[in-house]
Amino acid sequence: MTESLLAVRGLSKQFVSGNETVPVIEKLSFTLDEGQSLALTGRSGSGKSTLLNLLCGLASPDAGTIVLQGLVFEAGSSGARQKAAAWASLRRQQIGVVFQEANLMPALSLLENVQFRAQLAGRDPSKSEDWLARLDIGELAGRYPDQVSGGQRQRAALAMVFAMEPALILADEPTGSLDRHTACEVAGVLFDLQARHGCGLILATHDAELAAACQHHLDLGHLSGL
Ligand SMILES: Nc1ncnc2c1ncn2[C@@H]1O[C@H](COP(=O)(O)OP(=O)(O)OP(=O)(O)O)[C@@H](O)[C@H]1O
Ligand SMILES: [Mg+2]
Repeated sequence: MTESLLAVRGLSKQFVSGNETVPVIEKLSFTLDEGQSLALTGRSGSGKSTLLNLLCGLASPDAGTIVLQGLVFEAGSSGARQKAAAWASLRRQQIGVVFQEANLMPALSLLENVQFRAQLAGRDPSKSEDWLARLDIGELAGRYPDQVSGGQRQRAALAMVFAMEPALILADEPTGSLDRHTACEVAGVLFDLQARHGCGLILATHDAELAAACQHHLDLGHLSGL
């Protein structure tokens, strides 16, 4: 039996708001195989960003297990420090994250941003220029994030993610801040490169067309009965 790239089992997360405890993710289980894409849908507040944050380590689950490339992260297990470090290292090397607004370092040029992300993942930074060229912004390599358009920044963010050669890309409304035309272009590049490089993709989106382009679908609004 082949192992999934990602397996999520019984994942739960709640937030405390005043006196109230609000369950956002409840006993969620799913798997994603290598090279497959999964669309996360559901109305605003249904927990899409929370789930992506749990997967990339920006938030901690209250319960459940996340298995990435066979490495197990178990919520609540006090776990040896060594285990936590191994999990953090795997995430750094294997999970690329794209947000609605490109998360570039403002003090670095587009090229330096891509090089920095590649290095952080332990990859060869010398391919960074190629990645910018493949994303059609090669001529902007020396510019700073505030000297390019939103669509160009988002292309640079994709170059950063692909330059780290991740096994899994998490994208939170990656085209949400772009006009329709630019959004289609950026989404096209994302799906094309993802398919060519065979990495997994989990994409949170309100855009039905974007969701339809994914192979699998998970409606969080539906799951939590919203
Ligand atoms: N740090 C936090 N503290 C308290 N509540 C939070 C926190 N982060 C998220 N929430 C709540 O958790 C719920 C899920 O939020 P989340 O951002 O995951 O939704 P979403 O599906 O991504 O929504 P959108 O489509 O608007 O981006 C919301 O009710 C939100 O208010
Ligand atoms: Mg969100």
